[in-house]
Amino acid sequence: MQTLKVNLGERSYPIHIGEGLLDLPELFAPHIIGRQVAIVSNKIVASLYLERLSHSLAAYSVISVILPDGEINKNWKTMQLIFDALLTARHDRYTTVVALGGGVIGDMAGFAAACYQRGVGLIQVPTTLLSQVDSSVGGKTGINHQLGKNMVGAFYQPQAVLIDTTTLNTLPSRELSAGLAEVIKYGLICDKSFLVWLEKYIDDIRALSQVALTEAISRSNTAKAFVVNADERESGVRATLNLGHTFGHAIETYMGYGTWLHGEAVAVGTVIALEMSQRMGWISIQERNYGIHLFLRAGLPVIPPAEMTEADFLERMIIDKKVIDGRLRLVLLRHIGEAVLTDDYPKEILQTTLRANYNALVHCKS
Ligand code: NAD
Ligand code: GLY
Repeated sequence: MQTLKVNLGERSYPIHIGEGLLDLPELFAPHIIGRQVAIVSNKIVASLYLERLSHSLAAYSVISVILPDGEINKNWKTMQLIFDALLTARHDRYTTVVALGGGVIGDMAGFAAACYQRGVGLIQVPTTLLSQVDSSVGGKTGINHQLGKNMVGAFYQPQAVLIDTTTLNTLPSRELSAGLAEVIKYGLICDKSFLVWLEKYIDDIRALSQVALTEAISRSNTAKAFVVNADERESGVRATLNLGHTFGHAIETYMGYGTWLHGEAVAVGTVIALEMSQRMGWISIQERNYGIHLFLRAGLPVIPPAEMTEADFLERMIIDKKVIDGRLRLVLLRHIGEAVLTDDYPKEILQTTLRANYNALVHCKS
């Protein structure tokens, strides 16, 4: 097992990464202060892993809250089910919420833990690649609004993150690819050498090699923890973790939550960011194509939905947490391995980027 640490003073916590961690009660015990535990999961994940997790938590009084699956259910109505269960079982303010599932479960259970009796214990047990490399770490929790993705939520750090890498053995390959979008993101924003490594091992990751997966998860979390340690509340550098997300969130919202997977929308959003960075004269055509090639190798889409117009993008992009006083700030690439948050770009470049013919761009040789 490897252990990384998020360093936030008295709110610091470990990220344990390894095989079979679900079965190790000793990893949970130091982070549970009361006798009550509420495992929040969904039907799919619960059918696979709830029994094992419950066994590891047998020393506590445990309830399980099984939510409907999917991005489409990441909303107030579903959140309410968590509060209903906690109150019905008379859980007090020393209860611990254990989030067992992907990013949707982690974000909702985390938000519920932040709100219930003004804040209770939280342990993240992520079971998708995306949640193991990104969403379970850093304390962003929340739900979607019909008008905007993740627009309602709270910063609320867990007491621990337990990543059992063998849970990925049951993950559908489309979901694994979606997680790779966030892995590639770390390389693009801050670690070019990680991209070189990924080029070499991406097929091993897709073939579920535990060695390659563990390395990818560990390197991703090292990058994430570094950024979160520096800027927990996203007043600066943390925004770079949102590379491709402003465009991607517009796709998710326009297409209807769950139609495109979050990671798929992020992949296409990042291709748009690569294209805009190239049009800004910051990266070369070869560098743009290098990024696109990685997403293709990860099995991800790289072309925006044909039905979305420039206006469709702009209308949704303006509902974004990086907007200040109506100014749309974007994360772009100065270089491969160096991202910037900026509102200093010609509007016409954004417009022509959104109008670009991505079909032609992806298939051209350059
Ligand atoms: P998800 O939670 O919807 O999980 C994807 C699917 O895989 C679901 O159907 C789920 O039931 C299933 N699943 C989960 N684990 C499984 C397993 N081990 N075996 C088989 N099936 C399994 O999607 P996701 O990609 O994990 O997360 C996406 C969400 O994360 C989005 O809502 C996004 O906004 C959020 N997110 C949050 C942050 C953050 O910092 N908080 C960062 C990135 C993404
Ligand atoms: N996933 C972006 C962040 O945690 O800031």
